[in-house]
Amino acid sequence: MFRTRRLRANENIRNMVRETRISKDALIYPMFFEEGENILEEIESMPGQYRMSIDRCDGVIKELLDAGVHSVILFGIPKHKDDVGSEAYHNHGIVQEAIRYIKKNFPDIYVIADVCMCEYTSHGHCGILKNMYVDNDSTIKYLAKIALSQVEAGADMVAPSDMMDGRVSEIRKVLDEKGYKNIPIMAYSAKYASAFYGPFRMAADSAPAFGDRKSYQMDVHNVREALKEVEDDILEGADIVMVKPAMSFLDIVTKVKEITNVPVAAYSVSGEYAMVKSAAKNGFIDEEKIICEMAVSAFRAGADIYITYYAKELAKCIEKGIIG
Ligand code: PBG
Repeated sequence: MFRTRRLRANENIRNMVRETRISKDALIYPMFFEEGENILEEIESMPGQYRMSIDRCDGVIKELLDAGVHSVILFGIPKHKDDVGSEAYHNHGIVQEAIRYIKKNFPDIYVIADVCMCEYTSHGHCGILKNMYVDNDSTIKYLAKIALSQVEAGADMVAPSDMMDGRVSEIRKVLDEKGYKNIPIMAYSAKYASAFYGPFRMAADSAPAFGDRKSYQMDVHNVREALKEVEDDILEGADIVMVKPAMSFLDIVTKVKEITNVPVAAYSVSGEYAMVKSAAKNGFIDEEKIICEMAVSAFRAGADIYITYYAKELAKCIEKGIIG
């Protein structure tokens, strides 16, 4: 008889033959920075997550470091929005100042800056509008400006999340010209037009004022198109490619992993977080076990990097040996 159960007899042997290993080093935690002072406001759609002013971020970062999480990705919520999202590339914009603060006070933290315009534009779209349509070629010039200002402020990596064509090469070109040859780009390559971003848009005030993002983010029905996006981004110079969201798109993670030799990131987005939180609050699921299973599934699918609002909790689970 085939006895596959032999290798499941106890924890030692189960751990020995484990196929997927998870490390705290692979976790990235998203943070929302808001202009102002003394703000640490819980996000209604994402209980346990906060919009914070720079002067209140120390506690959050210390908890991350204590748990063993060393990487963050930053989002900014400016007071002033306009049609070109000018606060996104302002030298003293909210994200630029947050980057400066973190790099100065917590040099061990690896700071990734999300490059996008939707939190900064009055219309909430991820680019420059021309006749109610997001204009690709003028947008990528702005994206490169945003990325440059973030890197000048000290960002260790930039992560364009806009889904415009040609933005990776435009950003690479501008960073190289200015001497930032060693700053990597993590491209949100296969980013789907997903309903799972709903809670984030409430958190970041970034819902589009009209229409949707389907003319730039991907159709959820497509697979091969994701591979095309990934290939293009790598040719343009992406150092890391991302699939987003994670949980409903694990097939894409696996396929992207198969066709690439750069690291693959998966972003477990706000909707995934909000669903787990609400079900857990009601006592319908075991939150810790669920988040561990979700993380394992992303890594098992092929992710090398996992961006999650549960980074701190997962790191603790790894420490306790619940996953690893
Ligand atoms: C900006 C951006 C979004 C997310 C990450 N970067 C929102 C969007 O595309 O609408 C979503 C993250 C999340 O839902 O957790 N474009």
